[in-house]
Amino acid sequence: MERNLALEVVRVTEAAALASARWMGRGNEKAADQAAVDAMRRAFDAVALSGTVVIGEGERDKAPMLYIGERVGSGGPPEVDVALDPLEGTTIVSQGRANAIAVVAIAEKGCFLHAPDIYMEKIAVGPRAHGAVDITASPADNLQAIADAMKCYVEDLTVVMLDRPRHQELVRQVREVGARIKLIQDGDLSAAMATAFEQSGVDVLMGIGGAPEGVLAAAALQCLGGDMQARLQPRNEEETQRAAAMGVKDIHQVFKISDLAKGPDIMFAATGVTDGDFLKGVRFFGGGARTHSVVMRYRSGTVRFIEASHRFDRKPIY
Ligand code: FBP
Repeated sequence: MERNLALEVVRVTEAAALASARWMGRGNEKAADQAAVDAMRRAFDAVALSGTVVIGEGERDKAPMLYIGERVGSGGPPEVDVALDPLEGTTIVSQGRANAIAVVAIAEKGCFLHAPDIYMEKIAVGPRAHGAVDITASPADNLQAIADAMKCYVEDLTVVMLDRPRHQELVRQVREVGARIKLIQDGDLSAAMATAFEQSGVDVLMGIGGAPEGVLAAAALQCLGGDMQARLQPRNEEETQRAAAMGVKDIHQVFKISDLAKGPDIMFAATGVTDGDFLKGVRFFGGGARTHSVVMRYRSGTVRFIEASHRFDRKPIY
């Protein structure tokens, strides 16, 4: 796949971030999300690819735009699958909190797991703990294996997880072995990515979040050399059926990172909407704004941080 495509895709996440950042702290999740979706949809029209959304805003009957199955791009080769989240962290933006991002990943057809918007149990780590996670093992065993791989004590590890009542038992088990915990209100995709950036101060993501965010996290961690395992967590028969309709044969299957997102042609771009652990949020100034993005390719392992200054008086057609 043409390598410059990754740099095209970052325009799409920049557009979504610029649009949704206007809604920071204004208490309107819906408007923030809609602004991101509209901008991302328009920006895709300027990218030379034929894409099919496989992870998006929802199933066709539930989302008017960027729904699963929707075609994006200006047409022509390459034919790719697209996983996206125009605004990961709608509540984060509406409350002006940390770590909201706009995200797009692309890969060859068939390389992303087709997952409905249901829950997924995840364990994710950065490159230094690659190969040390096993979602079927206890939190204690995982943390010991991760500490061994990272040549540190379990007490040195920081586990990040969503602050939810469903994680009460997980919190108890992690505390019992002495690891540190960072509870976050939202945004387990950026938290999974943060495990691969040393300066973020988190080492492991554990717990249950959205399945679409899980697939996107796997795409990012593949590029970053991290590792991840996951299991779907349907809450009822209807969710199990939705997963089956998308091709999940065994609802209890343990997904390894390459079952979620397969290389070697994964490209991933994310732009900060609000300030976060590894990306700065959008800064507006008179007549323009600055964005901060990360763009990565699995094949080369290149991780680029791009700071862009945008002039609204010369803005592109999207
Ligand atoms: P949205 O951007 O769709 O609001 O998702 C935010 C998020 O926190 C995800 O990062 C996470 O995977 C999911 O919601 C968790 O779901 P829930 O809030 O139901 O626990």
